[in-house]
Amino acid sequence: MNLLKALVIANRPVAKKTYLMELGVEAKEFQATPGQFVMIRVTGTTDPLLRRAFSVSLLTKPNIVHILYRVVGKATELMKNMERGAELDLLGPLGNGFELPPDRKKAIVLIGGGIGIAPLLFLASELRAWEIKFMAGFGSKEDVVDLDEVQALLATEDGSHGYRGSVTGLFEAELKKGLPRDLEVYSCGPWGMLKTVARICKEHDLDCQVSLESAMACGLGACQGCAVKALGEDAPTYYHVCGHGPVFRASEIDWGT
Ligand SMILES: Cc1cc2nc3c(=O)[nH]c(=O)nc-3n(C[C@H](O)[C@H](O)[C@H](O)COP(=O)(O)OP(=O)(O)OC[C@H]3O[C@@H](n4cnc5c(N)ncnc54)[C@H](O)[C@@H]3O)c2cc1C
Ligand code: FES
Repeated sequence: MNLLKALVIANRPVAKKTYLMELGVEAKEFQATPGQFVMIRVTGTTDPLLRRAFSVSLLTKPNIVHILYRVVGKATELMKNMERGAELDLLGPLGNGFELPPDRKKAIVLIGGGIGIAPLLFLASELRAWEIKFMAGFGSKEDVVDLDEVQALLATEDGSHGYRGSVTGLFEAELKKGLPRDLEVYSCGPWGMLKTVARICKEHDLDCQVSLESAMACGLGACQGCAVKALGEDAPTYYHVCGHGPVFRASEIDWGT
């Protein structure tokens, strides 16, 4: 983990309230694996005080980090107005990242909800040589990020683009059509969506890894702000998403009732 300076190379809208920022990181070599994230401070001032967590959505050489972000509050409002040459600092890479499938014969399904597609885009680029099925869900067609590169199956809640309904509904429909049984599922998105993905995978006895994007404060294991209830005899009571995650086996998490 390093504290690094980064310069904005490009920053453009890609969907409603959604932007893609390319950052040139000032480091000899910046390496990250899919699922890892960085904590970004957007100003040199104390407002906003805390860094914000963003998944690495792509890493291109040399040292270009892509951040796909949705504008939801103060930091992301500031980010959206940053122009080429603007400077910010970042801490990272942080977190454990996804475990890549051990066996090339395994079929891969990626399921992203909204901005949760960000770490999966990086994963898809690393798994280019594999046969993957990428499913992405958004609210409406204006929220849809262009995913031509990964040829995603799309779902929108209002049916304005692709499958009508949730991405978990799309996943179930694809399972009914017949996906291979030896499947590794990778997912990222809101808690409720991940809970449903975890349930479906349990019912079908599928391996599943989830990246949890709980709200974070310190990002360093000090504040308990990112605790999620753990499951399993030898597990601690809680996991810290920032320290133990953000990626977990779906079976390691207590999803509640
Ligand atoms: C490991 C990790 C990876 C992430 N990757 C990305 C990413 O690639 N792209 C991206 O756009 N966002 C990502 N996030 C979420 C991102 O960190 C928050 O959206 C960001 O902190 C918003 O900052 P803000 O100052 O603009 O809004 P804030 O003022 O911090 O928040 C605005 C509103 O959003 C809510 N909120 C803030 N963070 C979250 C969250 N994590 N989950 C649900 N609600 C939240 C707040 O409660 C508030 O209502 C990630 C979070 C984590 C923990
Ligand atoms: S964000 Fe502070 S402990 Fe995880």
